[in-house]
Parts: sequence; structure tokens; C-alpha cells
Amino acid sequence: MMIRDTFKALVVEKKNNDLMATVKQLKVEDLPEEDVLIQVDYSTLNYKEGLGFANRNKIFRIFPIVPGLDLAGTVVESKSDDFTPGDQVILNGWGVGERYWGGYAQMARIKAEFLIPLPKGMDTKKAMAIGTAGYTAMLQVMTLEEAGITPGTGPIIVTGASGGVGSNAVAILSGLGYEVTALTRATEEFIHNYLKKIGATEITGGEKWTEMPAPLEPQKWAGGVDTVGSVVLARLLAQMKYGGCVAACGLAGGFDLPVTVMPFILRGVSLRGVDSVSCPIQRRISAWERLVTDISDEVLDSINTTIPLEDVPRYAGEILEGNITGHIVVDVNA
Ligand SMILES: NC(=O)c1ccc[n+]([C@@H]2O[C@H](COP(=O)([O-])OP(=O)(O)OC[C@H]3O[C@@H](n4cnc5c(N)ncnc54)[C@H](OP(=O)(O)O)[C@@H]3O)[C@@H](O)[C@H]2O)c1
Repeated sequence: MMIRDTFKALVVEKKNNDLMATVKQLKVEDLPEEDVLIQVDYSTLNYKEGLGFANRNKIFRIFPIVPGLDLAGTVVESKSDDFTPGDQVILNGWGVGERYWGGYAQMARIKAEFLIPLPKGMDTKKAMAIGTAGYTAMLQVMTLEEAGITPGTGPIIVTGASGGVGSNAVAILSGLGYEVTALTRATEEFIHNYLKKIGATEITGGEKWTEMPAPLEPQKWAGGVDTVGSVVLARLLAQMKYGGCVAACGLAGGFDLPVTVMPFILRGVSLRGVDSVSCPIQRRISAWERLVTDISDEVLDSINTTIPLEDVPRYAGEILEGNITGHIVVDVNA
């Protein structure tokens, strides 16, 4: 495989307190010294990068930085015995795109211990159509399964359903035979139709989801996949059926949790946290292997929009505003 003399990368620099994002031509020598040199095919855009480009939550820890918290591509050089040129790999999390240069470039150098092999039966395009969002959703589904929640246990609610993680969770759960209710702030018919197309049987939303719940409410859900946090997660917990479980990964609505102990001590409800960033390697591999079959190419086509590197900063603003439906793939070679 040829190593390019120069390649495109989206570089973020900090001047005074302002961030500047520019697509630049870099040389391989410009990349940080790490074990494995990768020719990148695709990366993705996530809520976290939205926060990063808006200079919030200290997402970008070093400057200059090439953001992009995930990538899929092919190894071109390796100092590690675990990878050889030609291997196809996936990377997500571990602080890449935050403390290390990431996937918004045609070439990347990454620590070998951060990489996993692309599972058999998946290409790099499908890997990033799934992305960190789909992989996180899979971890949430696995978490519900580990809590004993099966399709026969009862309905599942997915919050932030039209977002990247939410859409993937709706699609995976419905493909596995769960009855899925999608919670969305969106009132537009096309978004409700989209959610039904990817597998939701019911749509819910409205003002009550922004109000504080009672300590206990009528029991509705066997399980929950939460990406929103705050009062939405509190209401979910108050509405769980006896023995239900919520797998929580996000804070799109806030990082607080105004809940009482009542759902836990009177209904045996459990709240399990899901982290994709430092998730142990074997669990990552299990999640990615399941994604070969547990989400279809057809549904991924409905969920994804593909953008070039140049459009990343603009879409990052839109994702933070909640204006994106589904998931964004970044084609670094477009
Ligand atoms: N723990 C982890 O490892 C991990 C991994 C990936 C993502 N996350 C987190 O999970 C969350 C979702 O990530 P994502 O990439 O899927 O983001 P996303 O595509 O922006 O989706 C978030 C969705 O949440 C809803 N939402 C946005 N702002 C909201 C608000 N103020 N109040 C209530 N709902 C709101 C919107 O859905 P509707 O319009 O349909 O309501 C939005 O589409 C983020 O907080 C992200 O940081 C965590």
C-alpha cells in the first residue's frame, strides 16, 4: 500500500480563546509518533465533537488537534506485532480526538492497544455507518440483556431517539424483536415517519418530558436506553416496570439526575451506566461482532448522511442545536 506524500486533515488550532478549524495538507511526519499508521476511509461526527468545536466541556485537550473520535481504515505501517500492513481496523474512544489526534484525516497514527480488527463480514463503510453511536447503542442493548430484559419482558423506551445513538438503539432493538417506543422532542411528521421506518412501534414526547416526574408513576417500560439524562432519565426511572433496567450513556439534556430512591427500593429497578470510551477490549470486540448481523445495511442507509471533511465544523454546530436526524459519516476522501 502506497503512503501518500501529503494528505488532507481537519486541524483545530486555538488562538487566544477561539478555536479555528481548517482543512490542511499534512505530511506523515506531521502526525504524532504512535505505533500504527493507518490509511483512513471513514470517521463519524458525534454530539461530543459538537461540544468540542463549540469550545465546551474541554473536549479538545491538546492543540493543534485533528479531532475525530473514531475511524475505520487499513494499516499501512506497524511497529506492533498485533497488526501488519493490509489489516483493516476500527478505532473508537480511548480519548482519541480529545487527547490524541483522531480520524478527521486521510492518515492517522494510533496506539496499537486502541485498535480492534474489523470484524469478518463488515467493511469500513459499514463500520463507520455504525460508528461510535451504533457501538454505544449495542453496549446499551447488551447491558439490558445482562439485566435479564428480553423481547418477552415488555416494551423498551429509547430517548433522544432521532439522534445517532438513539436511532441505532431503536434499529438494533427492533431487529432483535423488542417492542420499541421512541421518545423524541421532534414533532415533525417526517421525523416520526423516520423513527417508524427504522423500527419504532410507538412515538412519545411532549411537554411532560420536560417536567419533574412524581417519585413513582404508572409502570410502563421493561427497559430503557437513555441518551438524554436529567429529568428525562428521572421520568424513565419513575415509569419502569417492576425489575426493569435503564442503560444510560448520555447527557444531551443535562448531566444532573433529579431522582428519588423510590423506583430502586420499591420496584427493584436498576440503572446501569454505559461507557464506550474506556470499555475493555473484549467487550468492544463482542459488541462489534454482534453489529455484523444485528443491524442491517438497509436500516443504516436510512440512518446515515455522509459529509466531507470540509463540512464537519458546520454540521458540528447543527448537532449541538439538535438539528440533525440520524447519524453522520465523515468520508475523509470525498
Ligand atoms: N457514554 C458513552 O460512551 C457515550 C457514547 C456516545 C454518545 N454518548 C452521549 O450520548 C448522547 C447522545 O449522543 P449522540 O452522538 O447520539 O448525539 P445526537 O446525535 O446529537 O443525539 C442526541 C439526541 O438527544 C435529543 N436531545 C438533544 N438535545 C436535547 C435536550 N436539550 N433535551 C432533550 N433531548 C435532547 C435529540 O433527540 P430528539 O430530537 O429525538 O429528542 C438528539 O437528536 C450525548 O450526550 C453523548 O455525549 C455517550
